[in-house]
Amino acid sequence: MKTKTLGQFIIEKQSDFPYAKGELSRLLRDIGIAEKIVNREVNKAGLVEILGETGETNIQGERVKKLDVFANDQFIAALKAGGEVCAIASEENDEIIPIESEISKNAKYVVAMDPLDGSSNIDVNVSVGTIFSIYRRTTLSGPGTTEDFMQRGTEQFAAGYIIYGSSCMLVYTTGKGVNGFTLDPSIGEFCLSHPVMQTPKMGSVYSINEGNYLHFPEGVKKYIKYCQEEDKATQRPYSSRYIGSGVADIHRNLIVGGIYIYPTTTKSPKGKLRLLYECNPLAFIIEQAGGKATTGGKRIMEIDIKELHQRTPLFVGSSDMVDTAMEFMVKYTTEKV
Ligand code: AHG
Ligand code: MN
Ligand code: MN
Repeated sequence: MKTKTLGQFIIEKQSDFPYAKGELSRLLRDIGIAEKIVNREVNKAGLVEILGETGETNIQGERVKKLDVFANDQFIAALKAGGEVCAIASEENDEIIPIESEISKNAKYVVAMDPLDGSSNIDVNVSVGTIFSIYRRTTLSGPGTTEDFMQRGTEQFAAGYIIYGSSCMLVYTTGKGVNGFTLDPSIGEFCLSHPVMQTPKMGSVYSINEGNYLHFPEGVKKYIKYCQEEDKATQRPYSSRYIGSGVADIHRNLIVGGIYIYPTTTKSPKGKLRLLYECNPLAFIIEQAGGKATTGGKRIMEIDIKELHQRTPLFVGSSDMVDTAMEFMVKYTTEKV
């Protein structure tokens, strides 16, 4: 079989970005380095002492597992060493990490990331992920600032996610479609396995944490009931699939067709997921694959960002399913986000 590695693929596509002169390929190379190291640790998480919690809490007051910290450290180190990035924002750091070094003095990009998505699944050998979003800096020089991250999702230069699953996969977009690469551990290379990914317009899977049902907006409650109703024409009832690692749920739905919803709840009135490093990059990828990503009312990538760890509700997936869920929101939910 003729395989194409990530490196070969990027060089081939470099003419799409004449102004970027290989910077993107170096950035993705840096991300790939951290990804392989994190993948190695995820694979042995059941075997070594790294399993478990550090006992610290992150800025959002969540329990931080050791692997979150490890992944965060690896991505920061790889991006710093690569020299293409002037600042990093991470779920695990309350403030941005400005980068000031000789090799990054001409760096034009900033990276926002969720280094370990699905952290509640680390201890139980279930897929976890990494999400990243790349922007061009808006400040002119020196280390990056928080201002460089205060850009709408529509301004993303590239975005991607990694799944540490039965195989390790990297899926990314630069705004010209979505491509997926699977790590071939025998050669240590990411190989193009899912070229030009497109999500079905309609699917039959819905993914939501129904344990929060009582706290959902009325529109979401009614939409869930709609998913469960018998109707031959629309092939309902749909199947419910919820892993609890957003990357894995959204990746599966991208491939087979489906909708993932993390709405507002009475406990989290702004939603749970973070706009900058979870929702925007996932929205960019899903839109590039032909799907939709909204808050239940508005397009995710057009939301104004005011703070690094800003939260938002998320309705993402097959376009017809997102449209229907939004119709339920319009009809039954008066409070708009
Ligand atoms: P993280 O592990 O980075 O905090 O993100 C977890 C997110 C998302 O990936 C997942 O779908 C959702 O939170 C799960 O939340 P619930 O446990 O509340 O369903
Ligand atoms: Mn996450
Ligand atoms: Mn995380």
